Amino acid sequence: MNHTIKTQLNHRTIREFKEKEVPENLLKEFISVMQRTASSTGMQTSSIIRITDRKVKKQIAEVCKQEYVGRAPELFIFIVDAYRNNRIAEKKTGKLFPASHDMDRFFQGWTDSCLAAQNLTNAVESEGLGAVFLGSILNDTDKIIEILKLPKLTFPVVGVAFGYSNQEPQLKPRMDMNLRLFENEYKEFENYMEEIEDYDEEMQTYYDLRDANRRVDSFSKQVIDKLENVLENRIKILNSAIKQGFDLNLEKE
Ligand SMILES: Cc1cc2nc3c(=O)[nH]c(=O)nc-3n(C[C@H](O)[C@H](O)[C@H](O)COP(=O)(O)O)c2cc1C
Repeated sequence: MNHTIKTQLNHRTIREFKEKEVPENLLKEFISVMQRTASSTGMQTSSIIRITDRKVKKQIAEVCKQEYVGRAPELFIFIVDAYRNNRIAEKKTGKLFPASHDMDRFFQGWTDSCLAAQNLTNAVESEGLGAVFLGSILNDTDKIIEILKLPKLTFPVVGVAFGYSNQEPQLKPRMDMNLRLFENEYKEFENYMEEIEDYDEEMQTYYDLRDANRRVDSFSKQVIDKLENVLENRIKILNSAIKQGFDLNLEKE
């Protein structure tokens, strides 16, 4: 097995980091990896904000409701960025294009951001460091927009905090790929509870370091918890995107 695949199969989220800084030469490599990441139609409709100011980091940690975010040596926030190409088009033609803020632009930027974030994470892990994705920046997108001074036609997607790991979490179990990988067409199962029985049990052997060595709940219980405890702001993030100038209104047939 090659080094890349070994690294990927060894993936686990790291949430506690040593105080050690990430060296400049590594940061440069990581930035090149993000630059080289595939981009929808080559338009590079995403940008990254590196957070170096401790105060800003703390403000973001508050939105995330995860104090370790404030202590992470490196914190990168990935954003949809249709602003830059809009400015280029405006400068070149003197016109404003309706497509510059349409749904396609938005999702291109969203996908590009996710790919760059994953590529960064792969690079970080391949160098023996650890990382955590932060979807929790979406807890309050209006606040993140304010903190990062995001102009119209930009929108936060995900954060990645990384550094030298100060913990050794277990590999978190995954459900069987039989349930997730299909051939040619979607496969439905008769009884999903039966299908995940072993996985449900295996999950309870996993210790989540976030929760003081307590065994985690079965997967099915976690599914219910997540569906019962919906974060109000997070189901309204498209309202925030519309305020940022994106035209996400569904076309009425
Ligand atoms: C899009 C996305 C958002 C995530 N957001 C957070 C987050 O806000 N905080 C956090 O601690 N972990 C976050 N995670 C990490 C997941 O909780 C983690 O990947 C999952 O529990 C599986 O564990 P593992 O990565 O250790 O295998 C996120 C992961 C993804 C893919």
